[in-house]
Amino acid sequence: MGLFISFEGLDGSGKSTQIVKLAEQLRAVHHDVLLTREPGGTAIGDQIRSILHDVRNTEMTALTEFLLYSASRAQLVRQVIRPHLERGGTVLCDRFADSSIAYQGYGRQLDLGWVCQVTHFVTGGLMPHLTVYLDLPVEAGLARKQAAFAAQQGERNRLDLQPVEFYQRVREGYLHMAQAEPQRWLVVDATQPIYQVQQCIWERLQRLLQIGEAAKK
Ligand code: TMP
Repeated sequence: MGLFISFEGLDGSGKSTQIVKLAEQLRAVHHDVLLTREPGGTAIGDQIRSILHDVRNTEMTALTEFLLYSASRAQLVRQVIRPHLERGGTVLCDRFADSSIAYQGYGRQLDLGWVCQVTHFVTGGLMPHLTVYLDLPVEAGLARKQAAFAAQQGERNRLDLQPVEFYQRVREGYLHMAQAEPQRWLVVDATQPIYQVQQCIWERLQRLLQIGEAAKK
């Protein structure tokens, strides 16, 4: 079984930048790295992603939204993530199950117990060895997103149209999950310069790899 790492955070937290940097670092030490993302990562998942992101879908209920993210995840786990891990590879995933708990559970306020149960069913119990949470105050994340839109980088999607309180609940949800399971989560202050964030992640990863090596001996 290989190594599975997920990245979580509000939009604008720098996930995409950091995930690419970590992939480079791991490849340099001979990991067979597969980079993927949610929603999407498969042909079916990408079709689901476009339904989820379509700003015209204003009538979508919270439950429908949750089930669509779940459907995309069910496909990604079985078609991409599990096979690569079974080959001994390393999977880096831009968002995973915790996004549904944070956004649909805490953010949309769907019943948390159900969200967790369905998510467990969907993933078949597969969880990342490490989840990197890039923490950013909501206002800072929204400001970064605005700047990106102004520079014509990135497209506005349905999830970008929520009130500030929604993102605040999402952030609280992430912090709550990270506090409850510190052995899996790494919380990094995403207001730091890119290279410092990168260093925090790399240090934790090296510790994780050392523990893995020691366990093999
Ligand atoms: P991103 O690909 O730009 O991160 O956009 C994905 C959006 O979807 C982001 O706003 C978070 C949201 N999301 C959920 O609400 N629930 C989920 O389970 C996942 C994976 C993403």
